[in-house]
Amino acid sequence: GADNFFAGSLLAWYDEEGRKDLPWRINPTPYRVWLSEVMLQQTQVATVLPYYERFLQRFPDIGGLADAPQEEVLRYWAGLGYYSRARHLHRTAQIVARDLGGRFPATVESLSALPGIGRSTAGAIVAIAFRRRAAILDGNVKRVLARYGGVVGWPGDADTSRRLWALSEALTPDRRVDDYTQAIMDLGATVCTRAKPACCGCPVASRCVAYRENRIPQLPGKRPA
Ligand code: ADE
Repeated sequence: GADNFFAGSLLAWYDEEGRKDLPWRINPTPYRVWLSEVMLQQTQVATVLPYYERFLQRFPDIGGLADAPQEEVLRYWAGLGYYSRARHLHRTAQIVARDLGGRFPATVESLSALPGIGRSTAGAIVAIAFRRRAAILDGNVKRVLARYGGVVGWPGDADTSRRLWALSEALTPDRRVDDYTQAIMDLGATVCTRAKPACCGCPVASRCVAYRENRIPQLPGKRPA
């Protein structure tokens, strides 16, 4: 990306403050990264942690998950909610194990064709597990980028989403894309929070449009009534 400030500042911050002890950041294989990203789609890190460890104990690889009965997969998911995630997870495991020789595809396009993997989850897997440049845009990242770039409009609106994706693509660096991806997620979760963001601890506040113009409360834009 052309903007070295954003990625560079985020990476320096991540080296100091990032949550580098999270289990999916240690040994980030495609299987482990995929499982973590699906669990984290609608569930917070603290809740996911014990489920993630139990799940991996029981299903350490894609073949074991593919061969397990669906009811057992659902039992290991019980309590995480959004159970379609577990059914999609199981179906994707069967496709990868049986049709793709146990290897996850390494592109956003082919990953997004699998059940339960949207564009952002696919980007996270490509960036973190394959360490290839790919953009993400989950809920936290939408908030960070709407503020940093002053992108007005509700992120659920198609045009706003297009502009946020374009900004995410433009800011994603070629180097250290795995750390960068974790860093921007961490920034959204711990600094650039929805209510009362800690702008004084933000590595990119000096060039943040919302911070400079005192528009943090207005960004990201709310769903039109
Ligand atoms: N939320 C979604 N993906 C995440 C990750 N890899 N680390 C922390 N929080 C996340």
